[in-house]
Amino acid sequence: MLFRKGTGIASSEITPESVFNQHTQGRRRFLATAATLGAGALAASRLPAILNPQSTVLAETQKLQTVESKYTVPDVQTPFAKATTYNNFYEFGTDKSDPAQNAHTLQTRPWTVQVDGMVAKPITLDVDSIMHYRPIENRVYRHRCVERWSMVIPWDGYSLAELIKFCQPLPGAKYVQFLSKVDKKQMPELPGGYDWPYSEGLRMDEAMNPLALLCFGCYGNVLPNQNGAPIRVILPWKYGFKSIKSIVKLHFTDTQPRTLWNELASNEYGFYSNVNPNVDHPRWSQATERRIDAGFLPRTMPTTMFNGYQDQVAGMYTGMDLKKYF
Ligand code: MTE
Repeated sequence: MLFRKGTGIASSEITPESVFNQHTQGRRRFLATAATLGAGALAASRLPAILNPQSTVLAETQKLQTVESKYTVPDVQTPFAKATTYNNFYEFGTDKSDPAQNAHTLQTRPWTVQVDGMVAKPITLDVDSIMHYRPIENRVYRHRCVERWSMVIPWDGYSLAELIKFCQPLPGAKYVQFLSKVDKKQMPELPGGYDWPYSEGLRMDEAMNPLALLCFGCYGNVLPNQNGAPIRVILPWKYGFKSIKSIVKLHFTDTQPRTLWNELASNEYGFYSNVNPNVDHPRWSQATERRIDAGFLPRTMPTTMFNGYQDQVAGMYTGMDLKKYF
């Protein structure tokens, strides 16, 4: 989108995938053990029983146990290889291929999520505790990017509403802000020109909508780093940039929070960013999309209002001028 490319790692320095995989197998086993010790202690000391993980931490390579979801769409799914190599994750570079090449430096365990602001009791939660809190549904969602491409991805998680209820926001809380991890050491490609971390926000009713997914995996496995491991949100009726990755903080507030893209270019990226074929991006139309799916070539198709999720979400915006609040 708007960032200039940072000082890239020479391609000779990037570990070939085969070597990387062998390396990460070992690293993941180690991390799983370390996280079991570290996160277990944290969970036991700070969490009520309901969030205390029953067993140990899942190894990152382990498959997720998922249940079917009523929210699944029947569209042809995008191949795993495409969904995990064509990404936006600017902390790891600005090209679509950068995150898959660079995000192995992200350390996803131990990992905590801080909950603060207008809540009954601020708390720090271990990510594995959050992951085990509710059954994980496999939801096949349409994923629509503001850059006019779309994918259909089976995401694994449960409704964000479940975690929010647990957090007990105060009645005056109107928004929830999400903040991503930022660590220059783990993110040597971090572009300049923005006061990181990546920040996003939702109105409280949007965050409580059952479609808003708290996501831990895709295609039945834990999230690859480039897709936002170990915890992100997926908001299928909004443009992809609202679906913030690698979350470390939820902040409840009565004020509309800052969001990265809105701050960088408020005329191009609004706070709501609902998929809307009737509201053009200033530099291009949003009426059609290029579906990247299992077919031989990407298909161009008309974009539907709210990405096809009108029945579930349109009611939240009744009476709002969506050209003004884009
Ligand atoms: N979250 C963080 N922390 N950093 C990012 O750069 N990019 C956003 C969103 N979440 C981004 C992020 C954008 S622009 C898109 S389109 C989606 O992630 C892409 O998600 P995907 O790579 O899993 O398809």
